[in-house]
Amino acid sequence: MKYMTAKEAAEKWNISQRRVAVLCAENRIENAEMLGNMWLIPKDAEKPQDARSLRYFENKKIKPFVKWAGGKGQILDIIKENFPNGFGETIRKYAEPFVGGGAVLFEILANYDLDEIMIADINQELVNSFIVVRDNVEELINLLESMQKEFIPLSTEDRKIYYYNKRELFNDLKQDKSNSMSVALAALFIFLNKTCFNGLYRVNSKGGFNVPMGAYKNPLICDAENLQLISQKLQNVKIVCGDYKESIDFIDENTFVYFDPPYRPLNATSAFTSYNEVVFTDCNQEELAEYINMLNERKAKILLSNSDPKNHNEEDNFFDDLYANYNIKRIEASRMINSKSSGRGKIKELLISNF
Ligand SMILES: C[S@@+](CC[C@H](N)C(=O)[O-])C[C@H]1O[C@@H](n2cnc3c(N)ncnc32)[C@H](O)[C@@H]1O
Repeated sequence: MKYMTAKEAAEKWNISQRRVAVLCAENRIENAEMLGNMWLIPKDAEKPQDARSLRYFENKKIKPFVKWAGGKGQILDIIKENFPNGFGETIRKYAEPFVGGGAVLFEILANYDLDEIMIADINQELVNSFIVVRDNVEELINLLESMQKEFIPLSTEDRKIYYYNKRELFNDLKQDKSNSMSVALAALFIFLNKTCFNGLYRVNSKGGFNVPMGAYKNPLICDAENLQLISQKLQNVKIVCGDYKESIDFIDENTFVYFDPPYRPLNATSAFTSYNEVVFTDCNQEELAEYINMLNERKAKILLSNSDPKNHNEEDNFFDDLYANYNIKRIEASRMINSKSSGRGKIKELLISNF
């Protein structure tokens, strides 16, 4: 077999040498071989199809680009079964005011062709990442690719030094409220999410991200193809950073709204509610119920997730009382993130709807 170098392939296909190396590493060039630190590419290899061409995107799966506490990937199938009738036909708008990692959003983006979609979250760095993925994905991929290249070959000790440097830089950039650092901030946010302990997002009292490094052997820091797919799908999505109530003007009778607020802690010690500096209290849950009642009067289709307090106390009717006029289903779900291993396992969650 005759071979060419990455430089020759880059010239032949009119792409960068770095892009060729990434395509080789992703196994997208058949029979490409690594010799030392050099790629050997069969001379007759075809240029892999451009992930940015629309045809390529058809039928491709997309998945959340960050791991997120309370992510709904595990119970997506049950949630899908509970979408309202007529969704995608008569109901042509979708709102997700607590979007988090967006497991449900991406399912909808992959399978429905809707007129309008809006998402919101109060976590500024998370929302900044959604916006950068939508508007600046190639620059983001370049930064993530270089961090991946630098981080992966390091020893554990050197990885720690690298990780804590990036964490400090992230916390510094986080203070900068101008837009000039938004791509760098998004790249650091995704890097930290992929390499930190359990993909947690936790901040100290001053708002500094303080999760230690995780123990992943080979984390995929840059999933370029997924990011490009998501970017395409987000093009017409309205992305809001702020409180869930900012969805008020968007939601009407043709809107399906999925609410996935921070869960009410199952007990005092399992309180995992600090996605942010602000905690979501029972008072906030009650306020949300009032907001939902108002949207119910507008005839929006509403679906809400929460934890089931009855897992720990059969007598606790907090949500049953709050949503007495709604349909309440109890479904089985295994929690992904829980600091106490005894707390892992199948617990019941609530799915509450007005349809
Ligand atoms: C349970 S998570 C959502 C998880 C998401 N469904 C997923 O699959 O990844 C709750 C989200 O609500 C956000 N949040 C907390 N308080 C909020 C508020 N008042 N308004 C909007 N978002 C809020 C948090 O930042 C967090 O991302």
